[in-house]
Amino acid sequence: MSVNVYEKVWMWGAGGLIVLFVAAIGITAVTQAVQPPSHIETIDPATLADHPEFGDPQVHTTADGKIVVPVVAEMFQFRPDPIEVPAHTPITFRITSGDVVHGFEIVGTNANAMAIPGYVSQFTVSFQKAGDYDIVCNEFCGVMHHMMVGTITVKGEHP
Ligand code: CUA
Repeated sequence: MSVNVYEKVWMWGAGGLIVLFVAAIGITAVTQAVQPPSHIETIDPATLADHPEFGDPQVHTTADGKIVVPVVAEMFQFRPDPIEVPAHTPITFRITSGDVVHGFEIVGTNANAMAIPGYVSQFTVSFQKAGDYDIVCNEFCGVMHHMMVGTITVKGEHP
């Protein structure tokens, strides 16, 4: 079978692109921040009210100086609300749900996690700009889902 030279060029070109794309996924998975969750932390949603961290969730600083924000998402609010944190500082959010799956998306940032009953979702983010940020629930969770919003007030020298 004879294959036209231009046909061959296109075939090898397309094959080369596939190799390139697969290699890009592989390389970024290993070297960049494409990482699966490093730990899975479970929690009993039925006893959340008596939990030392999530019973009355408050922004706090740990013994080694980290600022931690425990958040409970539940129909149809986030606790605490508002959340006050400083700018230019790594803030670790720890999020769980007391009832159904909710979303926790900080508008205008790349911070976005699911709040899943029985699990704690954790991520760390620094706010570069002071001001108020909206938190929205981006998982449909019931009739008032569209009203489920919260506020993060970031205090800093650059309002
Ligand atoms: Cu909570 Cu939608």
